[in-house]
Formats: sequence, structure tokens, C-alpha cells
Amino acid sequence: MDLMEYQAKQLFAKHGVAGAVGIVASTADEARAAAEQLGGTVVVKAQVKAGGRGKAGGVKLADGPAETAARAEEILGMQIKGLTVHRVLIAPTADITEEYYFSFLVDRANRNYLCIASVEGGVEIEEVAHTNPDAVAKVAIDPGAGVDEAKAREIVAEARFPAEVADAAVAMVQQLWRVFIDEDASLVEVNPLARLAGDTLEALDGKVTLDDNAEFRHPEHADFDDQDAADPLEAKSRDKGLNYVKLDGSVGIIGNGAGLVMSTLDVVSYAGQEYGGQEPANFLDIGGGASAQVMADGLDIVLGDEQVKSVFVNVFGGITACDAVADGIVSALGILGDAATKPLVVRLDGNNVDEGRRILAEADHPLVSVVDTMDGAAARAAELAAN
Ligand SMILES: Nc1ncnc2c1ncn2[C@@H]1O[C@H](COP(=O)(O)OP(=O)(O)O)[C@@H](O)[C@H]1O
Ligand SMILES: [Mg+2]
Repeated sequence: MDLMEYQAKQLFAKHGVAGAVGIVASTADEARAAAEQLGGTVVVKAQVKAGGRGKAGGVKLADGPAETAARAEEILGMQIKGLTVHRVLIAPTADITEEYYFSFLVDRANRNYLCIASVEGGVEIEEVAHTNPDAVAKVAIDPGAGVDEAKAREIVAEARFPAEVADAAVAMVQQLWRVFIDEDASLVEVNPLARLAGDTLEALDGKVTLDDNAEFRHPEHADFDDQDAADPLEAKSRDKGLNYVKLDGSVGIIGNGAGLVMSTLDVVSYAGQEYGGQEPANFLDIGGGASAQVMADGLDIVLGDEQVKSVFVNVFGGITACDAVADGIVSALGILGDAATKPLVVRLDGNNVDEGRRILAEADHPLVSVVDTMDGAAARAAELAAN
């Protein structure tokens, strides 16, 4: 789960990382009240899960409550990288003298943790890595040893943080390490990690990704789950216990088993090139025991996506045999009735495939066509989506 800046800052505060958390507002009036409470000049910051908010006009200074309300009014409802701003964070302005970059992340390629730090922060680190790679320090971290004071000092030296702020940086690096480890994060990023007048350091922006596999250890993280920002179809599928991810294309995908569904996405994407670049509209894994109800729930969600023009149901019969899946498809279409309006291409293989195909042939549903091979079915689904 990716966190919003204000949520990341709540975790930072919990672990003693310097930097104001600020106050979240979802209306201009709330923003005004927040500015009254904080006093002085403030920054009004769009809360969306995307970087580059500053560049997009989503971070603005405001002097006093009236101006804060006006800036909030402008930013609320704005679109940043396709995301609507529903909340702003009101935080005290910091007197910045320099902006640094800092992060801890999982380095999957090297099966390790990695720290990336630079004195050239505030801008996109990818850009710095490209134009001035020497300014970006990368320090591998032994997961068993972690980051103690000595390691933090090594990181600070490698990144060439100035001597005046070195001690403060060593302390902050260790606190950020606690955020990374204690909260089971796979990314903790601070950009800018700002040097302020008086040579103190503050985390002025925060990006944290929590490892969902460790959710069971953190019941308190459930509060971060941001229902209104999620795709409505993703929220619906979560309620139904389905494994669904919305994508951008036109071919709805339903399959059983994550590996099969992943390869179905590839095959559809490939076949779609012949038909004007049709792409998968979603990932949906209905799992092993695909009952009629699960199939109906899955179809309901995929057909509910306006971008979907055709659906490819790709099932490999295993413990749940093909005849049960075919029964599931037929009864799902019965359950959905007139709600099912888009063509379905079904490819069945595996356990009891003949009986499965016989059931579909006998039902002879006008929307369903059965294709024997995965490539053939993908091409057919892409063709239907194109027309
Ligand atoms: N509290 C603050 N006080 C002063 N300037 C700020 C503050 N927060 C952010 N900024 C400035 O705005 C820039 C962009 O803000 P940031 O939170 O990093 O958003 P993003 O990375 O999405 O653009 C920062 O690099 C910094 O220069
Ligand atoms: Mg930033």
C-alpha cells in the first residue's frame, strides 16, 4: 500500500523524524481553520499518490487564513497525473537553505536493502542520477546488520552531507531506518530532506510504501486504507474478496491462478497489436475453486468497466474441473441476465475439458464463443474489442 504524504509524515513523527506533520483539510473552510491554528505562513499541499505535485501547481505558499482558504480552493478538485485532489495538507513553511534526497528501499535485483542519498534533492532523483550520477550515493545495507550509528555515518559521508548537518543527518537516517523496518515498509523516501536556516534538518515530503504481506502485523495500518481514492471497481472486488487490478485497455480478463492471468495479459497485449493496439482492461484472478457465484461476481466487475469491449475468460481446469467452470459461466450469465452485454471469448483446458466445452456448446449463449487455444482466443477477444 502506498501512503499519502500526510500519512507518511504520521509514521515519521511516530519514530521521531523531525518535520511538521501539519493538518489535513478536505474543504477550504477546514484549510482556513488549519491556518488559524498553525499561524504564520503555511504551505498548502495536494494529497495525491503521485510525485511532482509542486511542478503541477499542487504545492502553494499562503500567508494567513484567507489566503490559505483561497489556495486550498484552487488545489482541491485539481487533477494531478490523472488523480483528483480530495485533500490538502496545511503545514508550516520551513526556511529552506538546501534540499537533499534520501531513501531506503528493497533492492530486489541484489536481494538486499539499499539506501540512496544525495545532496541534490528537491528534484526528481532519476533526473539527477542521469545528469550527475556522482551526486547520487548508493549504499547497500546488510539486512541482518541493519543501520546502526556507524552505518548511518557511512551513509551520510557517502552522500557528502555537509559537516554542519552531519550529526543531525546521522540521527535522522537511523530514525528513518526504524520507519522502514518497524513499519514493514518496502520504500521510505524523503524528498526534500531539507536543511533549514540554523542547520537543522526536516523531512518536508514523505513517500512510504508498506508491504501488504506484513499487514497482519500492523492492524493500526488499516486506518491508512483510503477507500475513496481507490478505483470503485477495485473497491467492489475487494469487498467480494476477488483479486482484481484495473488496467487501461479494452479486453476484460478473467482467469484462474495468478500465473495464468499474468500470461493471459501478455498474450492479449501481443495479439492486440494486430487489432489497433488493444490492451488488457484488467487483471482478475478468480482463484482455484471458481464457483458460479465467484464467476458471476468476476463477470459483474469486469462488465462494469466502461472501457471493456470484450471479455476473455481463460480457465485451466485443475481441482475445479472444466465442467464446473462451464456450469459457472452459464449460471453466471443467467444471474447477470441483461446486465451481460459484451461478447465473451472462453478458452477452457485441463481436467474434464470435453465435458466443459459440451456444456458451453449446449447452452449456446449468444454472447459466448469458445476458442480452443489461448493464442486464438486472445486474438478473437482483441478483434471483438476492436470492432
Ligand atoms: N513546508 C514547506 N515549506 C517550504 N517549502 C516547502 C514545504 N514543503 C514543500 N516545500 C517546497 O515545495 C517543493 C515540492 O514539495 P514536495 O512536498 O516535495 O512535493 P512534490 O515532491 O510532490 O513536488 C519542495 O521541494 C520544497 O521546495
Ligand atoms: Mg517531493
